[in-house]
This record gives sequence, C-alpha cells and structure tokens, in this order.
Amino acid sequence: MYDSAITDRANQLLSRMTLAEKLGQLNQLSGNYGQVSDALAEQIRTGQAGSIINEVEPGIVKKLQQLAVEESRLGIPLLFGRDVIHGFRTIFPLPLAQACSWSPELVEKCARVSANEAATTGVNWTFAPMIDITRDPRWGRVAECLGEDPWLCAKLGEAMVKGFQSNDLSSPGAIAACAKHFAGYGASESGRDYNTTDISEHNLRNLYLPPFNALAEVGAATMMTAFNDLNGVPASGNSWLLKQVLRDEWGYEGMVVSDWASIEQMQLHGFTENGKESAFEAFNASVDMEMVSPTYRNELEGLLKEGRIQPKQLDAAVVRILSLKLAMGLFEQPYAQPEKLPELVCEEHRQLAKEAALKSCVLLKNQNQTLPLDEDSLNSITVIGPLANDGYEQLGTWVFDGKEEDSITSLQAIRDALEPSCRVNFVKALATSRSKDDREFQQAVEAAKAADAALLFLGEEAILSGEAHCRAELNLPGAQERLIEEIAATGTPVILIILAGRPLTLESVLPKVDALLYAWHPGTMGGAAIADLLLGKASPSGKLPITFPRKVGQIPIYYGQKHGGKPVTPENYVHMDNFEARAPQTSLGMAAMHMDTHYTPLFPFGFGLSYTTLSYQDLQLSRSKLSRDETLIITAELSNLGSFDCEEIVQLYVRDRVGSVTRPVKELKGFQRIALAKGETKQLLFELPIADLAFYGRDLKQRVEPGQFALWLGSSSEPELQSSFEVV
Ligand code: GLC
Repeated sequence: MYDSAITDRANQLLSRMTLAEKLGQLNQLSGNYGQVSDALAEQIRTGQAGSIINEVEPGIVKKLQQLAVEESRLGIPLLFGRDVIHGFRTIFPLPLAQACSWSPELVEKCARVSANEAATTGVNWTFAPMIDITRDPRWGRVAECLGEDPWLCAKLGEAMVKGFQSNDLSSPGAIAACAKHFAGYGASESGRDYNTTDISEHNLRNLYLPPFNALAEVGAATMMTAFNDLNGVPASGNSWLLKQVLRDEWGYEGMVVSDWASIEQMQLHGFTENGKESAFEAFNASVDMEMVSPTYRNELEGLLKEGRIQPKQLDAAVVRILSLKLAMGLFEQPYAQPEKLPELVCEEHRQLAKEAALKSCVLLKNQNQTLPLDEDSLNSITVIGPLANDGYEQLGTWVFDGKEEDSITSLQAIRDALEPSCRVNFVKALATSRSKDDREFQQAVEAAKAADAALLFLGEEAILSGEAHCRAELNLPGAQERLIEEIAATGTPVILIILAGRPLTLESVLPKVDALLYAWHPGTMGGAAIADLLLGKASPSGKLPITFPRKVGQIPIYYGQKHGGKPVTPENYVHMDNFEARAPQTSLGMAAMHMDTHYTPLFPFGFGLSYTTLSYQDLQLSRSKLSRDETLIITAELSNLGSFDCEEIVQLYVRDRVGSVTRPVKELKGFQRIALAKGETKQLLFELPIADLAFYGRDLKQRVEPGQFALWLGSSSEPELQSSFEVV
C-alpha cells in the first residue's frame, strides 16, 4: 500500500519511540467539542493520542495539532476524524440517493468537494464510504449505504475513495477514507441495528466482502470494524475476518480502526469477560486503533508484560498508523491550508449538489404524463406537506456540519420558478411526518380543489433513518396516507414527492396518485433540483439501487435472488383472496410465494422512469463461446422515441445457469449512463471480461466455472433484451 520510502521512515521513527508512545498511537480520543480540556492537552503532550474524533472548530483543531507537533517529544501529528458521509457544509444527497445516479464520476466529485470542505477545518480523515450491502430497508442505516448489489456498491465506493483521497493523499484537500463497517453489518437480524448477524462464508465471500476487497484494492487508507457479532464472533475481535481474510488473503496494510467503543462492547456481547479480554481479542485480531473506549490504553501494556501479545504485533500496528500519517504528508504539513481550498458552500459546490440531487431523484410513476408540469398552462398549484419547506429535514441523516439556512427548499424553488404568473399556495397540513393532527386537512383539501395540481411533499423526517433508527413497518408515518386519500378525492391531479431515508411500502398509496417522484433526502440544493424536475427543466434519470418491497413481510426481497426448486410464476401464483372455500391443500400449486401479496417487488432494482420513451433493439454478442481469459463484446441500439432529452442508465446482467453452488437468477455486471437527445439513436457497446463472472464455489475458491450463461441488457433488472453465451 505504501512505498518503501514511507515504511522506512515509519520504522525509523518507530525505533525512537518508547513503549508508552507506541501505545499512545493506538488511541482515538473524543474531542471536547470546541474547547481544549487540560486533560486532553496533557494526553496529547505526553503522546497518549494518535487521533482525535469530532473536533471541527479550526482554531481548536490547530491548537490540538500544535500540542502534538510542537510540544510532544517526537512531534507525531494527529489524525482528526469526522463523519463526512454525504457532505461537510455543502450537503449532497444521501449515499443511497447518490447511488441512484449510477455515476461513479458524480459520486467522486461529491466526495472530493466534501473532502475539500472538511479539510479547511483540519479534519483529515472521514469515516466513509459505508459499503455495507443490505437488503433490509427496515434497517435505519440503509440510508447511508450504496444499495443491495455488490457490483454497483463496489464501483461507487471506489469512486468515493478516489474522491476523498484524490490521487495524492498528501494534497491540501485530500482526506483519508475509511471503508466501513467490516463486515456483514447490513445483515443485522430483522433490520434492527446492532443486532446479531449470521452469514454463511458462501454469502460473505460472494456478497458482503467483495466491495471491501475492491476498496482495499483501490487503496482505501483505512477500514472500520463493525458493531455486530458475525456468526457468534464480534467483528471487532474476529481474527478470521481481520487476519485471515483482510491481512493474510488480501494483504491489506491499511490501518484498521474500531467502531465507537465496539472493542469495549465485546464484553456486553458476552464475548469477553472484561476490558482486558476485549483489548486482547481486538488487538490479537489486528485492530490497530481503538475509537474512544479505553481498553487499549488501560490493558495493552499489561498484556505485553504477560506475553499474551507480542512487541512485534504492537510495532506492526504503530507502523500502519505512522505510514498513514506519513503518506498524508502530516509530518511536513500538519495544519489545514484553507487558503488553498474553495470556500464552504460556494456557488460551484451548490451547483454540484444540485446536479447530484437531479440525478438522485427517481421517477417511479407518471401516468398520463402528468409530469412535467407545463408552466404555461398553470394558473395555480397547491403545495402540501411537512417536507415541502423544511431545509433541515431535506438534509437527511449524518449531517453534523451542514446548516439548514444553506438549503433551498422545494417550496422556495417552485415559487421562484412559477410566481407571479402562477399562484402557489402552501398548506403544511401536518407539523411533522409523524403527526396525526389533521386539523389542517380541510384547508389543504380546499386549496387542492382550487388548484390545477396538488404537489404533496411527504415521507420521513431525517431522524427516522440513520444509525439506530430502524422501523418494523415501512408505511408513511402518522396521518400522511389519510392526507393523500383526502387530496386524491378532490379529483385534482396529485403529484407525490417522497423525501425519506429508505424505501417505503407505498403499495396502497400508489393508485391514489398520478405521479410519484422519490427524492430521498436530497441535501442542500434538493428543492432546486426537485423544482427543475417537476417543471421539466431536467428529465429524471435516477434508477433504484435497492428493491422496493410491497410489504415488510416480503423482506428480504432483492433482484439477485436464488431460483429455488419450486419457483413462483405468473401461471402458478394465486392470491389468497381468490382461493375457493375449502380448497384442498395441494390444489393451489406449491410455489415459493406469500399468499397475501404478489411475489414481485413494488419497484425492482434498477427501475426508474424518465419523461421520454426509449427503445432497445438489436442485441448482438461478439462470440457465442468464450474461454475464461477472453472478453465478450455486447452491442445493441438505443433510441429516444419521445420528446424529451434524457440520460438512460443501461444495465448489463448475466445468469450463470448451473454452478457448483446455486447462483443468483441475475447479477449486475455492467452499467453505462447514455445521453440521448429526443429522436436520437445510439449504438451501445459493453465489454464483459469473462473473468468478471468468477465467484466462490462449493470449495469456497474463487473461479469462473464453464457452462451456459444468460445475458440481458436493458433499463432495469427486468431488462428488455436477452441473449446467451457459453464459457468453455
Ligand atoms: C458510529 C457509527 C460509525 C461512525 C462512528 C463515529 O457509531 O457506527 O459509522 O463512523 O460511530 O461517529
């Protein structure tokens, strides 16, 4: 990971360090949030801290760094860590929303701006990207992830790492990235955060680990261990995961940090007797730095004296930490250089945030071309809902340094665009997304009756997703669904815009609205983007990176499911409402389905509408038989038949028909954003290296297995064009 110039310097410095100074590097201490306590100052002066978390006040960060660099014996600089998850002061759409762009370029640019803004304060390490694969929208942290698919997650996660770290980790605006949470956290049982996870090695290696492997390959500077116990062994003390896989198999030399007190919590898990055993298990598994809890600083010296851990293990951990600091250039330039960096929330950053929001929104329904609204024919519209004009809620979860006053809300942007030629009424109707107080409903109904269109801004407040914020039901909270019914009953066209941090179960709501735009929590410029999309100044292009269930009971539901031996089909599916009375037990067909809901998702992975109509045709493969070291060339034609320019995210899927283990019915293996002017036709070209079809088989060895493959190309995981080929 680091060239010898770095590691030689690290080892040279190591040779001058006392035991206490070595142990000190392994501690991340909590900042005092805007001040410097005497205790913290003394800990830094005496080399007891390797990093500070959550200090962002530039003057304080500088003071703390001066204490380390100018007053400690060896002057080893500090890492300053902060959760810069989807922006620092300029807030971009949630990571799950950014994933709807399917654009590594865009995601990289957003991460770069986030890094530049954070670096102005002296923050030099972010705890992102979060690349936990999850198929469970009950889990609050789905908001922070990059979706259900390992291929898409890896491509976007790589882009985020490049954005944060740039191609020179020592440059003024670069910050160290952190691939998290290693590993399996997204499989928390029942979607309840911090809950146990039980994942076969087959699924770990084929689903949950590949994004981490990809980010290790692309040079993510650090990794963070997860809170969850993984198959009975907490990830923060799991030596199979951290030593056998991460260090020995992958050869990862980056620094590994625990999650917040996740080392100490192993005692609560009932995995260790006390702090000393927690420190032993984590250190022995090769966790280099402890986030905030004190087990390392209290126990490691004793464990060394007892010979239960070895000096060379300590030296290895310290060298990984020093190498990172050297690679970041902190010894030469320990202080922030804001004069070399752009202004916070400058116009350029705002425009990027708007572009990201435009590409993050997903059009899920648009019957009778209700959208885009035709400004010229509108005399009045009514904007309704608690999320139409709330610059705080639209920012979403994991926003520590963004400011509400920077936000452009949807109501503001719609008024700026339409008034005075079109009257824009606003009725909040509900105090919050959870409110059940319907006293303003009648006012909203009257306003809707008088309008040419009703724009409903509903969904979830920011607090209803994110860490520890999980839900057992995924319907619209509070009285929102009843509000939709009452507005729909007026007969005025209803356009529903959802701001939320997760997929919601909207099956009962969908028939009542004419159009549905999913805006997630779109960030600082979300309102400006939503207004442009509603008014046709831009065409929606987002595609879902996660499946939308009809009901919670379908979870986990995802496109890459296994075929099974008794699959449900349109022919054998029967809803229980249609059962004959006293139907004999085997008369209904025996298929993998729920009797009380259709077996398909409400919206599939990869789905998203635009304002135009597209036609896919003429799929061609370069070969019908290929060996494992060859590359398949796929071509087709894509035409824009409608009257709007668009950007289509073309998706490539394969299916390995027979494997030494059962294989998913589809696997994403490529995607491209294709811009098409109205009336334009373009040739599509994809290259599929057969090596990309490798997976971990029955012997848990990674290889491409010969045999028949199906291949699809299209606009979602229910693609338009199909073909096949054989690997020999
Ligand atoms: C939290 C999260 C982790 C975050 C860390 C620091 O508990 O699990 O993602 O980076 O603590 O805030």
